[in-house]
Formats: sequence, structure tokens, C-alpha cells
Amino acid sequence: MLGTDLVAELTKRGHSVESPSSKDLNITDPCSVAQIAVEPGKYDWAINCAAYTAVDKAETEVQAATELNALGPAYLGNACNVAGIKVLHVSTDFVFDGTASTPYSESAETHPLGVYGSTKREGELGLLAANPNVLIVRTSWLYGIHGNSFPRTMIRAWEAGKELKVVADQVGCPTSTVDLARVLVDLCEKNGYPGIYHASGPNATTWHAFAIEAIQAWKEFTRSDRAVQIAPIPTEAYPTPAKRPKYSVMSMDNLASLGIAPMRPMKESIQEFVGRLKL
Ligand SMILES: NC(=O)c1ccc[n+]([C@@H]2O[C@H](COP(=O)([O-])OP(=O)(O)OC[C@H]3O[C@@H](n4cnc5c(N)ncnc54)[C@H](OP(=O)(O)O)[C@@H]3O)[C@@H](O)[C@H]2O)c1
Repeated sequence: MLGTDLVAELTKRGHSVESPSSKDLNITDPCSVAQIAVEPGKYDWAINCAAYTAVDKAETEVQAATELNALGPAYLGNACNVAGIKVLHVSTDFVFDGTASTPYSESAETHPLGVYGSTKREGELGLLAANPNVLIVRTSWLYGIHGNSFPRTMIRAWEAGKELKVVADQVGCPTSTVDLARVLVDLCEKNGYPGIYHASGPNATTWHAFAIEAIQAWKEFTRSDRAVQIAPIPTEAYPTPAKRPKYSVMSMDNLASLGIAPMRPMKESIQEFVGRLKL
């Protein structure tokens, strides 16, 4: 989902980019990852969008999540160290437990609630241990047209006439893959200093309000006059195998210190999303 929009942004800005699939570059296999170091000087940056992202399935598929999220980034860090390639790695707000009530800073203590979050945190630490010269960008509530995402699921369900009930007591910042891609390329072009960055959309909201926003935008785009009715429910009424953070807002001071502009307001990003969406 992110990788496709990132390749588009890099290409649009005149960068030469290769985007191997998992068949061409398997990040869980150190020999496969080592390919990128074969010709030193060939690449300036490696940007890692590969991950095990099925949050609930990760609770039972611990080994697969560990290989992809925890071990892969370290293999990449080692290979890039050898070849002098700078690394930009994408991580998640799920490294936090969501018990805070003010935004998490880049240096805030991590405490993941489940396997996805803990393997992503292990990946951050493994990468930093392999190669201290890396940039780690944590994002949240990602959506884009090249994959399944929450707003697409909501719009599909609304189109199918389903009765919608959505969790209204978890707060986070929806992030468009197009907007995140812009920030990632800004970071490379500005040659950002190594460390941890937070990069999310600027609006904190709930899943319930986000669902309304997405369906409303779709409704306007398709000129539908059907009503949007979504019942707000508490987390307890929608049990999932993995626990989610209740409050997932992150401060973005490190991005701001480089003069990187915040992302567009959620309304604008969602409007663009529905305009490109094929259900
Ligand atoms: N989705 C969210 O809500 C969210 C929120 C916060 C952070 N993030 C982070 O954002 C990043 C991008 O997420 P996304 O939603 O765009 O992910 P995604 O759509 O699930 O894509 C994951 C990619 O990983 C690749 N991959 C899987 N196994 C691989 C392997 N063994 N070797 C190499 N590549 C492999 C897949 O490539 P193939 O298709 O070729 O198999 C796929 O393109 C991830 O780091 C994720 O943790 C996501």
C-alpha cells in the first residue's frame, strides 16, 4: 500500500527507483538482502516498506511476524552498512500502549500491546543495533488506494447496505500513503539526521468519526443521497485478538525541526483518496 505511492512520489520528483517484490528481495533472508550491497555506490537509500501488517493474525503467526518485522530490518541494516547505503525504515504507533493522554514524543518510552507492535519495536532496535546511521519513521492509521484499508472497508460496507457499528473510544491520526510518501521523500532529499521521526496526518480522530468522514466524502464524490448512519460502540463491543492502543497521537517535533511541512488536513486527503478509489 505505502510502497506503491512511494515509488510514484520518488519517480515524480525525478529519482531513479527500484521496488523489488518479496520474490526478488526477501527481507527475511540475509543472503537475498545482501544483494543490495553487491555494487557499492549503486544506491543512495534503501527505504523499507516491507512488513507483516496483519495485526490480529500476528497474535498467532508470531514467527512470521518476527521474521519480517523484527529480523528483516536488522538484515537490511547490516547489508546497507557494508555498502554505505542510508536506510529509511517505516515503523508504527503500535510501539506505544496508548495509555498516555498527550502526544507521544519521539523519545517516549515504548510499550507495545501485541505481537505486531512488539515485533515492529524489535525491528527498530535490531536496525539501530546493526546500523546506528538510520532513520526510523513511525506512522499511524495508514490508508491508501493500493491495498485494503479502513476507509475502503467502511465505504464498501456502506455501499453494500450493511448496518455499521464502529469503535468510538480509540483516538489516532489517519495518514494517507500519498502524504506519507511526500514526507519520506522530503526526509531523503533533506538528508535528515539519523534517529526516530513521527509522521502522521494532522487530525486526531476516532475510528467512528473517521468512518463518517470517509463515507461522507465518498457520498459527495458519487453524488449519492443515501444517509450515513454509523452507531458508535466501545472497544469492548468489538473484541479483536490483538489489543489496540486507546490513544495513538504522536508529536512530530523531529520532522518540524528539519522544516518538513505537516501533512494536509484529513478532509483534503480523504477527498483525494475517494477520487482515486476503485471499490
Ligand atoms: N497499514 C497501517 O495501518 C500501518 C500503520 C502504521 C504503520 N504501518 C507501517 O507502514 C509500512 C507499510 O505498511 P503497508 O500497510 O503499506 O504494508 P502492506 O500493504 O501490508 O505491504 C507490505 C509489503 O511487504 C512486502 N513483503 C511481505 N513479505 C516480504 C518479504 N519477505 N520480503 C520483502 N517484502 C515483503 C509485501 O510485498 P509483496 O506484495 O511483494 O509480497 C508488501 O508489499 C509497514 O512498515 C507498516 O508496519 C502501517
